[in-house]
Amino acid sequence: MTVNLVIGTQWGDEGKGKVVDYFSKDADYVVRFQGGNNAGHTIKVGDQVYKLHITPSGVIQGKTGVIGNGCVIDPEVLIKEIDELIKRGIKPKLLISDRANIIMPYHKILDGAEEKFLGDKKIGTTKRGIGPCYSDKISRNGIRAVDIIDRKILSKKLDTILSIKRRIFDAYEIDEKLDKKEILETYTGFGEQMRDFITTTHVELNRAITSGKNILLEGAQGTMLDVEYGTYPYATSSHTIAGGASTGAGIGPKHIDDIIGIVKAYTTRVGEGPLPTELFDEVGKHLSEKGHEIGTTTSRPRRCGWLDLVVVKHSCMISGITKLAITKLDVLDGLKTVKICTGYQLNRKKIDFFPANIEQVTKCKPLYEEFEGWNEINTNSAKLADLPENAQTYLKFIEEELKTPIAVVSIGPGRKETIEV
Ligand code: GDP
Ligand code: IMO
Ligand code: MG
Repeated sequence: MTVNLVIGTQWGDEGKGKVVDYFSKDADYVVRFQGGNNAGHTIKVGDQVYKLHITPSGVIQGKTGVIGNGCVIDPEVLIKEIDELIKRGIKPKLLISDRANIIMPYHKILDGAEEKFLGDKKIGTTKRGIGPCYSDKISRNGIRAVDIIDRKILSKKLDTILSIKRRIFDAYEIDEKLDKKEILETYTGFGEQMRDFITTTHVELNRAITSGKNILLEGAQGTMLDVEYGTYPYATSSHTIAGGASTGAGIGPKHIDDIIGIVKAYTTRVGEGPLPTELFDEVGKHLSEKGHEIGTTTSRPRRCGWLDLVVVKHSCMISGITKLAITKLDVLDGLKTVKICTGYQLNRKKIDFFPANIEQVTKCKPLYEEFEGWNEINTNSAKLADLPENAQTYLKFIEEELKTPIAVVSIGPGRKETIEV
């Protein structure tokens, strides 16, 4: 029996979909435990590309996908995603936690509206209603999966919640009407379609652990978007770090074996907020173009920069990462020199930790180690020794700096372009 956890160590889009798909071969259950359809996880098998936003990536390998209590679910997106998979010949096995919160129409409207009022302080959210939905969960005004399969309860809850939301809409000068009847009909309709999947997933998962099954926990976003340890307020609204897996899936922390931190061989970020190693030169262009760095969910261009080990060290510490998966190493092919940030210069001091004060972060100047580049990685490489020597040096440095072993190196988007160490 193993319970392994995969999380992003940077600002998301590290290649979680690819790595989770790879490790799914040994799993019985693959579990999303936080976030919603702000995520966009890409899986490439042969010439087939799947982009999943809320369905756990393990369904592509035929494993049971679990959407845990810590997630927020937009039923319309989930149902559409399942339909599309079925059309492509994959009938996903799915379980949905009865405690997961549901993204309602007013959450999506408020996400956009709040951004408008933030002016140049805007976060640049995915506008999927994630923040407003988590806010309602914490302020105990949330609608949970269990509520949309009980018309009476949903109706009662909507009376209270819609009266609050209408006042907020007035204050924000939002014209949209919140029609209770329409929302009730639509969401009980979604409830009917989802009823068979909604269950006590935490009970099922703990039973699975007792009976020796393998569970793979699939993180969304990354450490630097964590609501607590990320670049707050330029963050998402959930716990993306390892601790989030326990609360978001209902699995005790002691059950978790390996915590695999995914590290993109460079750094990217979508949306606003500081990115200390950001590049605005030809190298930034190289990473963006060769890495096809366009957002999977919102199609916005991702900002690119050198690998920042201050960030990844912060991530390793907070999540107790036991193994690393390095992705997109091939994207560095062809660069004469490659750099890794190992510390920041803040005013006159050298620091090697990530400050909480966002103004300070914007003043941090990265301090770099330089390495010689390499020409081209053979994407059929089966072991580390098959990689160009300079690429091996680059990996060795990461491993030594982070004092954490590398378990996987990804050298292309496909399932086969993976070196298990
Ligand atoms: P996620 O959100 O962490 O699952 O990552 P995304 O799917 O949003 O973005 C990662 C992108 O990089 C996807 O288009 C993947 O197909 C692609 N990708 C993953 N691993 C590699 C790799 O090792 N090399 C290259 N070139 N592309 C990769
Ligand atoms: P995956 O799982 C990259 C970013 C948004 C924005 C901030 C808050 O594919 O790695 P939100 O809509 O969550 O309130 O937006 O977080 N963001 C992501 N960036 N990858 C993601 O997911 C993201 N999910 C949210 O761009 O800056
Ligand atoms: Mg993504």
